[in-house]
Order: sequence, then structure tokens, then C-alpha cells
Amino acid sequence: MSATALPAWRALAAHFETILDARMRDWFAAEDAYSPARAQRFTRAGGGITLDFSKNRITEHTFALLVQLAREAEIEQKRTAMFAGEIVNPTEGRAALHTALRAGDAKAPHAALIHRELDKMTAFVERVRSAQWLGYTGKPIRSIVNIGIGGSALGPKMVCEALHPFGAADLEVHFVSNVDGAEIQHILASIDLETTLAIVVSKTFTTLETMSNARTLRAAFIQRGAPEAALGRHFVGVTANPQAAVQFGIAPEHVFEMWGWVGGRYSLWSAAGLSIMLKVGPAHFNALRAGAQAMDQHFLNAPLEDNLPVIMALLGIWYRNFFGAQSYLIAPYASALRELPAYLQQLEMESNGKSVDLDGQPVPYATAPALWGAPGTNGQHAFFQMLHQGTTLVPTDFIAVLKPEHSLIDHHVKLLANCFAQSEALMRGQDASRAPHLRCPGNQPSNTLLLDALMPRALGALLALYEHKTFVQAAIWRINPFDQWGVELGKRLGIAIEQALNATAALEEEDVHDSSTRALIERAKQWSAK
Ligand code: F6P
Repeated sequence: MSATALPAWRALAAHFETILDARMRDWFAAEDAYSPARAQRFTRAGGGITLDFSKNRITEHTFALLVQLAREAEIEQKRTAMFAGEIVNPTEGRAALHTALRAGDAKAPHAALIHRELDKMTAFVERVRSAQWLGYTGKPIRSIVNIGIGGSALGPKMVCEALHPFGAADLEVHFVSNVDGAEIQHILASIDLETTLAIVVSKTFTTLETMSNARTLRAAFIQRGAPEAALGRHFVGVTANPQAAVQFGIAPEHVFEMWGWVGGRYSLWSAAGLSIMLKVGPAHFNALRAGAQAMDQHFLNAPLEDNLPVIMALLGIWYRNFFGAQSYLIAPYASALRELPAYLQQLEMESNGKSVDLDGQPVPYATAPALWGAPGTNGQHAFFQMLHQGTTLVPTDFIAVLKPEHSLIDHHVKLLANCFAQSEALMRGQDASRAPHLRCPGNQPSNTLLLDALMPRALGALLALYEHKTFVQAAIWRINPFDQWGVELGKRLGIAIEQALNATAALEEEDVHDSSTRALIERAKQWSAK
């Protein structure tokens, strides 16, 4: 049944009209000494993370209706199906078992396979980190180059940045994603190939960008005098298509497996996270997995009204489908989380940027909003003006870390002060009857997520929280969050246009492209002929 036909959806639509003009600051101001404070009523914890969602445009009644919506959308049953390995990705006929990758339980689906691969990763990482694995001239590995794009890069890159303080100081990890040659050339200029290990990460092992970069790096080794036979010490692969990796020239024993039942954007917990394990070591990688597992347990077991991923998903739906919010801001008040918005963009927008439901019918409501963000306090001096005085409702997640990773306490106090001040200012606003340009309307909703410290475990829990939030929203919208067919059209046209750009002859009249694309191709060809 479409979400809009659920009784709770209809009740929320009617309730929305009654709440639209209500102001959060009035609700806070109306608190009395006899009932628990709003902050207390709208704060929950799970997996080591505290969520204060009191600065949202909700009353107790709104919250009850939202939870009822989750119940009517059968979130509990759908959650059980995903964890049990049922086919929750029907267009690809696959399960989505990223949760099994971090399950401690030997009875979890594919447990033996997962642990075999984890053991293989651990043994490999220990050899590299202890300098038993050497490059072709006998030197230890000092640079890792992760070649991959999308889910084969964004998660590992973000985690390596976030957990930098836990990483080996003598091991630099570089990420090459873009087919723009500037990226690989820049990295080639800064590494010593004799001490470099490339990890080619691609679930399909056919992705244009990844294969182009991998071939360029391999050619660079040969150009700089490495014998072909030595490349085995400098290239390993991570893929669900091991034959293709072997064909590329990677030794079968150096191919780490991921599987069809793990989506790219959900794969950092698998061998796709090899670069993470190399940087921070197996113990911290396992702590990251354990944190995610703690959030999985919370998601599985906490009642819906106390369940962090469910609450965040419902609030997102409240703003997207009832208030018409077009975008959603992620504001981590931690520089180490600077890559988090990019990672969440793929997680939420590639998962839930869909317009047909599970029966192939057009959905009658908006799905994923545009997600964006940057670390605080930088964002305050760039785009926060729009939140304070613009014309757009932008729900925001503030993410704060209580204990800093450094010793500059004074800086940390200022950072936290700014984080809390922004959510308060956005909620409260400012009246200015005689100077309209000073008026801040306020009533901008936000969540505040608190982490005790940016430890591997806390980060794992945070990422699993967003994974499950995405899943719950998809379940309510009745869309498939685990496929990404939209990306294919652009890939196909890209191949056709690459052929046209490489062809020496001018385009034939009957070539399929529109006049704009034909003109662009011709201009590019004229320029490259000069
Ligand atoms: O093009 C989209 C996509 O398929 C993502 O879903 C995926 O994470 C990325 O490309 C990379 O794919 P692969 O790991 O197969 O190279």
C-alpha cells in the first residue's frame, strides 16, 4: 500500500496544517517546572550516540503519529527481512547483507565466508605493516593508493580521514577516483613507486574510471623500469568479479572478495575497507565494525519510539513530504569528519533517489532530498547565512564530538560553543521590528548528535545509524534503496561519446546525438586536433 494511503500519513497531513505556524521557541518558553523539559522528552541514546531531536517542529502528538507511520509501514518486518538475508533488492534479485559483515554471531548469514576474508585481510595487513611484504626493490610499503570510485572510495576515504589519529604515521593512503588524469598524475608526482601498493577496488571490476586509473598506474611502473613480473608485489584487488581482477594481472591469492549481496555504498565493512585496515590496523578496523554492530542491535531491538535510525528517518520524512524541504544539511563539528557529507550523499541519494516504487509504479511523493554539508565552523562563514535569513527550510544534523582528539582545549570549547549556538539561533531566531534586515525568522529544525569521542567504535555506530535511517525511509516510501539503475544511462552514453571523440572522421549526419551534444563533440575534436 502506498505510504500516502496509510492512516498515519493522512493523520499527519491533517495535523501538519495545525502545526505549520507554531514556533519551537514558544514550546521551549512554555515549559514549566512540573513536566519534563522538551529536551528530556525528545532525547534518546543508542549504540553510544545521543540524539537530541527537541529542536524539531514536532509535538508529542506529531511524534506519536510519525511512530505510528513507521509501524503501519511495517518497518519491524522489513528490518527482520533485511537482516535475515531475504531478497530486499528485487531489481537485482539480491539480499543486502552489510549487517552480516559486522555481525559477531557465527550464525549470521555467510559468517564463514566473511570471516575467511577478514582473516585473509588481517594476515595481509600484518605483513604490509610489519614490513614483511616488500616492494620489488626490497623496500617496505609507505604509500597505499586506493583506486576506486563511489562506494569503492567514499567510505574508506572518509574513515581514513576520520580515524587519522589512529593510523600508522609511516603509511600514507591516497585515493584516486576521477578519470580526470590530473588526479592520478598528481599522486604519481608525490609517491615513490618502489614503496607503493595499489589496491584496485571495484565490485564489478569494469568501472571505466577505476580501470583507466589502474592501467595508468601499471604503465607508470613499467615506464619507471619495474619488470612486469614485479607488479604482483604492487597490485592487489578487491572485487566481486575475481576473474576480471586476475585477467588484469593480479595474482589470485591477492584478490580479496566482496559479494553481490553487499552494495557498493554499504561495503566499507568488507574487503573494500582494506585501505582502512592498512591505515589503522586490524584492531581499530574491528572496533569500527563492532560500533556498527552495536547500532545494528539497537536498530533491531529498541522500540520504534526509542530507535535512533527510525526517529531520524521519520523526521526526514516529516520535512521532505509535509513541509516540502528540498535539501538536508549535514554539519559535523569535527574537521576529521570533513568527508562525511560526500559519503552520505552517495548513501542517501544513490539509495533513495528513486521515483518508482517496488511495484514499478510512480511514487506520488518526494523521495531523497539533496544532501549537502561541510564541517563547522567553516560552514557558518559560508552558507549558514541562508539558513538564518533565507527563504528555504533546511533540516540540519549537527554532529558534535565531546572529547577532542587534540590537546587544544580552548579551541574545542569554542568549537562546541559554536555548534550549540547555531542550533539555538536557528531554532530561536531574532525579532527586529525596526530593522527588517536584522530579522532572523528562526524555526529552522535540527538534530544534534553527540559522540563521546571520535573513536573507531563511535564512528562505526554513526555510519550504521545513517545506513539504517536510509533503509527506514526507503521502507516507508516503498522504494528499493539497493539498486542504482539511473547511473547506467550516463555510463552507456559516455562510452558512445568517447568513441566519437576518438574517431578521426567527422560525425556522420545520422549519428544519434542531439545537435547540442554533436556540437560539443565537434568543438572538442577541433580543439584536440590543434
Ligand atoms: O556508478 C555507480 C556505482 O555503481 C556505485 O554504485 C558504485 O559504488 C560505483 O559505481 C563503483 O562501482 P564498482 O565498485 O563496481 O567499481
